[in-house]
Amino acid sequence: MKDTFKQFGIAIAGSGSATPTATLDNDQLSQLVDTSDEWITTRTGIRMRHVATPEETLGQLAARAGRDAIAMANLSPEDIDLIVLATSTPDDLFGSAAKIQGEIGATRAVAFDLTAACSGFVFGMVTAAQFIRTGVYRNVLLIGADILSRWVDWDDRATCILFGDGAGAVVMRAREDRDRLLGFSLHSNGQKNHTLNLSQQAESRGLLTGLEVGRGQYRPITMNGREVYRFAVDKVPEVISKALYHAHLTTDAIDWLLLHQANQRIMDSVAERLEIPTEKVISNLAKYGNTSAASIPLALDEAVREGKIKAGDRIAVSGFGAGLTWGAAIFEWGI
Ligand code: UT7
Repeated sequence: MKDTFKQFGIAIAGSGSATPTATLDNDQLSQLVDTSDEWITTRTGIRMRHVATPEETLGQLAARAGRDAIAMANLSPEDIDLIVLATSTPDDLFGSAAKIQGEIGATRAVAFDLTAACSGFVFGMVTAAQFIRTGVYRNVLLIGADILSRWVDWDDRATCILFGDGAGAVVMRAREDRDRLLGFSLHSNGQKNHTLNLSQQAESRGLLTGLEVGRGQYRPITMNGREVYRFAVDKVPEVISKALYHAHLTTDAIDWLLLHQANQRIMDSVAERLEIPTEKVISNLAKYGNTSAASIPLALDEAVREGKIKAGDRIAVSGFGAGLTWGAAIFEWGI
């Protein structure tokens, strides 16, 4: 007879990232819209961003990040059981994860997309954790990737200055003797959905007399920046505190605060509210802008490869954005 139900622990065993080669700095942007390097730097902390050419695909970026994460975890693509791709900008609305599975040769893996905008990576981490904890899968590749340059209104100075393209990935593994995912908390508020959208444009197409269907197309990103800002500085400290509570930890037990890279002022304000010193805040926003679902794993991978984040370090991550959605997770880096 099979023994009683067993719960597995989780380790975050490897990371990878990829960005397009082409870059766009604030001075170049000021040739497009009425803005300046000074305004963008002061209000956001962003200096440049990477942008994909029409030929570059989300799948290529995600696959590069995924391969590097698998290599760092000392695994082969065939060891992966599940691929979760957090994205709002798939190459294919039917889903891009399966194509990435094929491209990296993860022949045993099941793969699916998950959409939760800039919270996608944190929501994906918690989703992947459920499969591992219950013993269903042992090795999960979680990728956060977005190409928002495809969906930005390049005439709107309030939004086009913020976003960039990229991908980041982690490998999450089952462990039987310890659990490095210490706590999490996830939330949604659809009543505030209107504050940040990339929505289907309702344009009808007549099929027959008296029968119309919608034409599939999306309008560019719209955002109420001030409202999203207020939401972030209010909800992010709260959700991190909830995740810490579930982890039975207080903020002083955290080595690194790694927030979705949306605005340096948001990061500074959250750190201040939580009384986390600035030396513990990981930020690479200046170089990449807001890369949505990619921003947390991209910054994580950089900090790991720079030797900043070391095995056993405790990290508080928090994603927030469209939906509205927000979430936080507390984990220790490494196997
Ligand atoms: O993943 C989540 C995604 N979104 C976010 O995280 C966004 C959160 N919000 C923000 O980061 C900030 O609200 C922004 C950076 C978007 C805007 O900063 P702000 O300090 O909230 O500026 P504002 O929207 O209150 O605008 C202030 C002024 C306005 O001019 P008036 O009305 O005072 O004359 C804007 O028209 O700045 C103007 N403005 C600009 N000026 C130069 C707006 N965008 C620009 C620009 N360059 N790019």
